[in-house]
Amino acid sequence: MTKISAIASIKPNQSVFVLTDKWKNKPEFSINSAENDYLTSYFKDGDKKQIVFNSLGRIICVQLIDLKKDLHKLLEDCRKQGATMADSVNSLKASEFTIANATNKIDLSYAVAEGAALANYQFIRHKPSAQKQANTLKNIYLAGKNIKAPALNNVNIVTEATCKARDLVNEPVNHLNAQGLADAFKLMGKAAGFKVEVLNKAKISQLKMGGLLAVNAGSVDEPTFSIMEYKPKNAKNKKPYVLVGKGIVFDTGGLSLKPTPNSMDAMKCDMAGAAAVGATIYAIAKAKLNLHVIALVPATDNRPGFNAFAPGDIITMMDGSTVEMLNSDAEGRMVLADALHYAKKFNPELTIDVATLTGAAMAAIGQNAIVSMGNAPEKHTNKLKASGYKVHERLAEMPFWDDYNDMLKSDIADQKNLGGPYAGSITAGKFLEKYTNYPYYHLDIAGPAFIPAKDGYRIKGGTGVGVRLLFDFFNSK
Ligand code: BES
Ligand code: MN
Ligand code: ZN
Repeated sequence: MTKISAIASIKPNQSVFVLTDKWKNKPEFSINSAENDYLTSYFKDGDKKQIVFNSLGRIICVQLIDLKKDLHKLLEDCRKQGATMADSVNSLKASEFTIANATNKIDLSYAVAEGAALANYQFIRHKPSAQKQANTLKNIYLAGKNIKAPALNNVNIVTEATCKARDLVNEPVNHLNAQGLADAFKLMGKAAGFKVEVLNKAKISQLKMGGLLAVNAGSVDEPTFSIMEYKPKNAKNKKPYVLVGKGIVFDTGGLSLKPTPNSMDAMKCDMAGAAAVGATIYAIAKAKLNLHVIALVPATDNRPGFNAFAPGDIITMMDGSTVEMLNSDAEGRMVLADALHYAKKFNPELTIDVATLTGAAMAAIGQNAIVSMGNAPEKHTNKLKASGYKVHERLAEMPFWDDYNDMLKSDIADQKNLGGPYAGSITAGKFLEKYTNYPYYHLDIAGPAFIPAKDGYRIKGGTGVGVRLLFDFFNSK
């Protein structure tokens, strides 16, 4: 893990990231006269905004920012520049750098550090030969007076939690099945101080979680249902916030098999919602936020073996209603439905589910944002959308009109699990809404959960999307 801490003064010869609006307003840091002359002429004509260079073995990065820009844009610029800095420091095989910020916006320093820490993430545990290429960056220092210890602590917590979520997503199914995912949550609960109860197949059967059992029918591995709870003594909320994460540890599509190579290959990421909610409650517990939060994860792989559920099957769900299963690749909504029904017993203030639910979400808005929808009141959703901009995990809200329910009507069951050819992410959301009786909001992260190539501080593979969003949302409660 990359550690971010405050430092009283910048060591000479240490790599440095300089943030200022104009070069002439540069912060205090050690620089020799040759470097100073060079930078003064470099920035003289005013059209250059950034430089990163190796000066006799240390990286100097200077970033001029336009303070008139929206804060959320500045924050994202800073994260990206932090990523560039981390990459440069690593290419030098150095272990630390310091951020010197001459502006009065201290949040920008945190953002640089956050971007650098996230860019520093690697998933190389299965490649011993890659240890030689392991990143050398270990410590990021923030210089200056305005740094607040709690805020800094939260940056450390949320970057660590995001990397935990990435680890879970990047771990393939032969190393992380439903039981493995539940075990990982148990370890996280021990480390951060929240309760984790894991229901096994016998218990899941006893509770008649028909959706989860149907998806699991084609698998040799048993399903799990994890219940995580963080309940501080003086929680501000009387009714808990409930998070629900889709935990399909691998999605073959089942008998409605996905075609490889282009659609099944990355399906180890189909538990990214589960990873996000587990890592969020981990961060909330570590930061000791004064909120009662519960996270639920129904988990299984979706395979075509054994008695795999067949297109046309009619499944009785935990709530007693029936579903005509027309496509075994629409499995996420089957397991989430039971979890959303289970959530009713907590009488939630708000339930948010996070799921790599539909290709339609990715088709609609690509890999840069989250498709969202729901019936929760604006006091919650406006805050969530604001957090989306702040952490750059933005929500693109879809309509959630009841008209879409028509596309889910079945002649022989209460609902079918397949909508029409259009509005696939919305019909999936409306399907899920049927299992709720509380304020509900749905996040479809199919697009941003897993990316094919590095994009700044988002490394190739699992991105950990949702963790920074939800942590910021709860932290501003
Ligand atoms: N896990 C997939 C959705 C997905 C697609 C996630 C791409 C990440 C990237 C989900 O289970 C699925 O297969 N959905 C189907 C639903 C359809 C059969 C109604 C889809 O989107 O095609
Ligand atoms: Mn599927
Ligand atoms: Zn799926």
